[in-house]
Amino acid sequence: MKKKLVSLLTVSAMTMAMLVGCGEAAADTATQAPAAETATEAPAAETAETAAEAVAETAGNADLADKKVGVCIYQFADNFMTLFRTELENYLISQGFSKDNITIVDGANDQATQTNQIQNFITQGVDVLIINPVNSSSAATITDLVVGADIPLVYINREPDADEEARWSANSWNVTYVGCDARQSGTMQGEIIVDLGQDKVDLNGDGKIQYIMIEGDPENVDAQYRTEFSVKALEDAGWTVDCLDDQVGNWDQATAQQLVANSLSAHPETEVVFCNNDAMALGALQSIEAAGRKVGEDIYLVGVDALTEALEDVLAGTMTGTVFNDHIAQSHGAADAAINYITGAGNDYYIGCDYVKVTTDNAQSVLDSLK
Ligand code: BGC
Ligand code: CA
Repeated sequence: MKKKLVSLLTVSAMTMAMLVGCGEAAADTATQAPAAETATEAPAAETAETAAEAVAETAGNADLADKKVGVCIYQFADNFMTLFRTELENYLISQGFSKDNITIVDGANDQATQTNQIQNFITQGVDVLIINPVNSSSAATITDLVVGADIPLVYINREPDADEEARWSANSWNVTYVGCDARQSGTMQGEIIVDLGQDKVDLNGDGKIQYIMIEGDPENVDAQYRTEFSVKALEDAGWTVDCLDDQVGNWDQATAQQLVANSLSAHPETEVVFCNNDAMALGALQSIEAAGRKVGEDIYLVGVDALTEALEDVLAGTMTGTVFNDHIAQSHGAADAAINYITGAGNDYYIGCDYVKVTTDNAQSVLDSLK
């Protein structure tokens, strides 16, 4: 018993060490089986569009007006998930669900709270559950609960790991994941920087790119992959990187603002600020400006999501670029998957979608498409 406790402590100490510090988080994910890879290669994989086609054929037959949908969001305060859940609700209604039968709850970033909410939905006898887990590592427990109650389950945004996804197909369970491959978003962030050319980005001309990384919740594969693959894109282009700081901002603007303020004063030689999402990039921008720096002139800044404010910054030149995290395709894909379970059409075990690179060239058209 004692020995087990010690080894558990050692593991969590190691995990802590991997969460902060340059390069270490990337090394961590590299050794893990990439969940999305297995899933995208699986022949069962389909895109949000093909799921939508299946729905178009069956939706007319289903009487959705009296079907109950339970939606669990990890945290309402998250900017991106707010766009996601708003679009999800509107789209469910447009597909024939009644507003009164759609219940969306706030997990308040606490897995115990969310697990209770899931239990309540089960007691109420909802017809389908759409879940954005607080902790992806709790997916197995969540799946067991929901499948045990014979309710179909659509995971969104926080992808469970490969072992968990493998259980769904092995048992032919009505469980799927709808989301994008976070490696693609990381790669696109790096490419936005590479496309500027090394001469422009290597401001101090030392042949290396000095950068700081602001990570989302490190338990989340989106954070792990964006951290790893953004830098990898620079290395793949033959650039040498120099990580000055790597901090966890937990997807949050105010946290990132503070972290970047500290980082910039400790490392004024910073040339690139990578943020795992736009909320944190907006916080970074506040600190960049407070430090008297100018994006595009003496520093570069990239995020992910394409929040309206970030798109406006890209257009104004105060952000170098972002990556569109298509909450419209993902929320529609999740709703379509829920409908496919209700009608009996069923779904594949992984439903993917693509990110889109955003720079000054296309920021206006992305902005227009979101209006
Ligand atoms: C988004 C973040 C968001 C996170 C929540 C990510 O895909 O890019 O903005 O905070 O999901 O899980
Ligand atoms: Ca340099």
